[in-house]
Amino acid sequence: MLNTADFGSDFLWGVATAATQIEGAANTYGKGLSMWDTFAKRKGKIKKSHHPQIACDFYHNYKNDILLVKTLGFKVFRFSIAWSRVLPFGKGQVNKDGIAFYHKVIDECLQHGLIPYVTLYHWDLPEALAKNGGWTAYSINADFNEFVLLCAKTYGDKVKNWIVMNEPFGFTSLGYMLGIHAPGETGLTNFFSAVQHATIAQADGGRILRSEVKNANIGTTFSCSEIIPYTHNETDLLAAKRVDCLMNRLFIEPTLGMGFPTADWDVLEKFAVSHSTWRHKERMTFDFDFIGLQNYFPLVIKFNAFIPVIQAWEVKAKSRKKPHTKMGWEINADSFYNIIKQFAAYPNVKEIIITENGAAFNDKLVNGIVNDDERIAYFILYLTAMLKAKNEGVNITGYMAWTLMDNFEWAEGYEARFGLVYNDFETQERTIKKSGYWWQEFLTK
Ligand code: NOJ
Repeated sequence: MLNTADFGSDFLWGVATAATQIEGAANTYGKGLSMWDTFAKRKGKIKKSHHPQIACDFYHNYKNDILLVKTLGFKVFRFSIAWSRVLPFGKGQVNKDGIAFYHKVIDECLQHGLIPYVTLYHWDLPEALAKNGGWTAYSINADFNEFVLLCAKTYGDKVKNWIVMNEPFGFTSLGYMLGIHAPGETGLTNFFSAVQHATIAQADGGRILRSEVKNANIGTTFSCSEIIPYTHNETDLLAAKRVDCLMNRLFIEPTLGMGFPTADWDVLEKFAVSHSTWRHKERMTFDFDFIGLQNYFPLVIKFNAFIPVIQAWEVKAKSRKKPHTKMGWEINADSFYNIIKQFAAYPNVKEIIITENGAAFNDKLVNGIVNDDERIAYFILYLTAMLKAKNEGVNITGYMAWTLMDNFEWAEGYEARFGLVYNDFETQERTIKKSGYWWQEFLTK
């Protein structure tokens, strides 16, 4: 039986959310549009033409939702600040209502004794900046710094725990290489320039927080997946190595001062040669207090000569007849353990927090009950794997479940339910799922 005592009394248990996925009030109360608000209007981009306009209406329900976090027994509430809510045009004019809203959210957390972990960038670039090239534009770094400075000065007295970026690989690859997330750009040139600017933004953000916020605890998050070669053929091994460079090493290594992993993948090397700024290691480096890891699945990789696009290389869990979630993501807690160990092996990683982990299943609300036993089984497996790594000496200090309540799952719309709390998107009625009660029992009994 898992017991919180096994993780230590200081271990931080939390739930994570993100502004676009829960807030709604997308273009009211002075908020400017984000690139997700406009992307959602493009035909065929989001399943069933769903959009984040109302989402969970957290903007109006934040009091109840924060109370739910408390009720479920968590200590930490992770949420993000929507850049275009505080700076409707991405820079310049400040929206007073937006500033006031996050004060209220923070105060509500503090009143309940919850610790706010605030993410600065969770994928919702203001549309005004996206129009001018977004993450591919050189000017994005100055704009991002303006946003970070505003947040640090405004909330720094109350908020000590900061996450500069959420999964930079996620938004640069899906949004700038594959075109399936906002802003829908494609190609390697877009991707690599977004990568470079995001890497700089992450480190700059860390420096601004360090100088503005007294006693700040500063982190940033990376998506990570164990990469497993399909066979031990030379070509599959080579492919696995490249995908590992792309998905696991591309962001953390420059952040740790190691530069991009160009030596292990010729495509990266070629790009670095033509972009001398890729060699500017210093500005990309920052000594983060903690590294947030977000893991959902391992990837099994088979060689594909042409495209540096993971989809073309992946052998899906379903075709390998492995257990998987509604997203098609393999359930494999050993791979969670393995990837934690892989990241913990970097000498400069001082502390790890699992800032996201969770699963979507086919949840149904029947007579007021959501019987999501699969999700409970998932959490037990993954927490056990994390505990194993912790007991072996990895400095893991916290775990945040993804996510508090069913919400807007980006291009998947509202059909992929990851919540511990079920949301009826018509009525905004919340129902704690069986897995939510499992957490409550685990954390409070
Ligand atoms: C990672 C992202 O940070 C989050 O926004 C998303 O909902 C989850 N993964 C699940 O896909």
